[in-house]
Amino acid sequence: MEEMKTRLTSDLAQAASLDELEKIRVAYLGKKGSITNLSRSVDFGKLSPEERKDFGRRFNEIKLWAEEALAQASARLQAAGASQAAGAVDLTLPGARRSLGSLHPITLVQMELEQIFQGMSFIIGTGFHVEREYYNFDALNIPGDHPAREMQDTFWLTNGMLMRTHTSANQVRMLEKHGAPLRAIFPGRCFRYENVDASHENTFYQLEGLMVDKGISIAHLIGVMKALLDQVFHQDVKVRLRPGYFPFVEPGFELDCQCLICGGDGCKTCKHSGWIELLPCGMVHPRVLKFGGVDPMRYSGFAFGLGLTRLAMMKYGIPEIRLMNSGDVRFLSQFPAAV
Ligand code: PHE
Repeated sequence: MEEMKTRLTSDLAQAASLDELEKIRVAYLGKKGSITNLSRSVDFGKLSPEERKDFGRRFNEIKLWAEEALAQASARLQAAGASQAAGAVDLTLPGARRSLGSLHPITLVQMELEQIFQGMSFIIGTGFHVEREYYNFDALNIPGDHPAREMQDTFWLTNGMLMRTHTSANQVRMLEKHGAPLRAIFPGRCFRYENVDASHENTFYQLEGLMVDKGISIAHLIGVMKALLDQVFHQDVKVRLRPGYFPFVEPGFELDCQCLICGGDGCKTCKHSGWIELLPCGMVHPRVLKFGGVDPMRYSGFAFGLGLTRLAMMKYGIPEIRLMNSGDVRFLSQFPAAV
């Protein structure tokens, strides 16, 4: 038995694979294995009860020892195999995927709208967050004593400039720079001194549009607005047009869309009215054209100020505006990384 132990130990040390190990197991512990045969090699009739007991004990001992030694050898070979596999380079494997983050829903909507308008030959402008009073108000036919200034509570800066309250502040800048004819959109961040609730933020995005040319009429305005909404929502959105007042358009309109969060039944987002104010618009006031150096006798145009933040809320079914500026990764990670 002792000799068998020594042999098995050296056989196991030489085994280089699990297959070889299995052969060793059969050679020692199989039906005709050398350890199994030990019990057959003994004539139990010739042994005293004492000797029989002694043999049985030692036979079981060596069997258990052999099983244990085989299990250890097998574990050693498996571990070696695994680390070998880990160290090997498989050039056909795809690379490890890196998490890329995602685009903000407002960015996604903005990119989509920019594509739509570029398809209609509009150029894209930007403007400034910190703006002069002149462009935000006066040049838009809103002089200092005009009650319309109170419609938009303003963050004034100590140097007399302001945080633009609307992207309309860029209208006259665009007219000054490019003249007529002009087709332009200018998306961007706007700021108002407002109380924050489910549908109001003090920081939000608008996308302004301006089209000036000879003979532009309300029909052009409605046509472009419809093209825009049809493409953005990829569905038949119910809209309504109401008269709206803005000093820099005449006539002015409010284009509302049926609330897509509640389907028009009324909810927190639409203040239980079933409608969302989405698209204030109108025909550019002749005074604004003049401020921009464009002759209102020769040119006319329309302008609109799309609420980009609200549009994103409608498109993605976001019921709460405060999520937009929250930086909450659980919210943000629901959006794709590209359009
Ligand atoms: N600037 C206006 C606002 O923010 C919206 C508007 C833009 C209205 C263009 C008419 C034309 O309320």
